[in-house]
Amino acid sequence: MTRHLLHDTDLSPAEQAAILEAATGPLPQALAGKAVALIFEKPSTRTRVSFEVGVRQLGGQPVVLDATTMQLGRGETLEDTAGVLSRYVDAIVLRTGAHERLERIAAAASIPVVNALSDLSHPCQALADLLTLRRHGRTLAGFTLTYLGDGNNMAHSLLLAGATAGLHVRVATPAEFACDPQVVAAAEKVAAGTGGSVREFTDPVAASEGAGALYTDVWVSMGQEAEAAERHRPFLPYALDEEKIAVADPKALVMHCLPAHRGEEISAAAVDGPHSVVFDQAENRLHAQKAVLAWLVQQP
Ligand code: CP
Ligand code: NVA
Repeated sequence: MTRHLLHDTDLSPAEQAAILEAATGPLPQALAGKAVALIFEKPSTRTRVSFEVGVRQLGGQPVVLDATTMQLGRGETLEDTAGVLSRYVDAIVLRTGAHERLERIAAAASIPVVNALSDLSHPCQALADLLTLRRHGRTLAGFTLTYLGDGNNMAHSLLLAGATAGLHVRVATPAEFACDPQVVAAAEKVAAGTGGSVREFTDPVAASEGAGALYTDVWVSMGQEAEAAERHRPFLPYALDEEKIAVADPKALVMHCLPAHRGEEISAAAVDGPHSVVFDQAENRLHAQKAVLAWLVQQP
């Protein structure tokens, strides 16, 4: 059966651990003679560059496609697009809005499909973040990571991927911007099997107490631009700033998937300060995604 990485729950704890382990070392030329389509229905800097460079480093040929210049943008169906691409390339990486679009592509494709961000989740970023913790010497099982801000795709992936790795994931959001309850329930179920845990907060300072990592993401995600005005004030207490760092573990890592808005969801002092590992996270996109692609194309 063709394997995909559409959502964080597509990887078992053992599979996730194997991918993270592979990402820490040199990878074989797993994509030699193969091509990978990278389709973007939303803007990107890190994902676009790290996948394109990563495919080349694995010996493969990346085909970067802006969806607005594809027939997809003129009404060709996702199913027909998947069927056609399956005849040319060996994997599809898609950044999109509605998560269902990824599921439709995967259902119609005969090759692996990777979620490069949807409105529901961002599993490649979460894998890179776990790799970042590992590469900073943190043991994932039992590690406490606190996410502050919007209960969005990034929060969902940290809950699910974190639970898979046995982390204690705390998420502090305004009540009206909480995570999807189905995602929280799924993460709780995963955590029950790994020794991790999942806890929701509305108090950002309480959530930050003693945390080994503090993480945040934008308050206005791609596609939410029309809501920008009302997506500011409720989040102000949730900014990742000196107040939260002061109550976290003294060695706490400050994390952000980027792009960041200094002075909004994260203070300039936090993102540019000594606790920050944001550029390591960006670098680890490359290593984590190479390991994901190598693993996917090697599945029977
Ligand atoms: N973090 C992340 O996915 O960045 P891009 O939107 O630049 O790809
Ligand atoms: N939550 C953000 C993540 C960007 C990498 C968005 O979806 O725009």
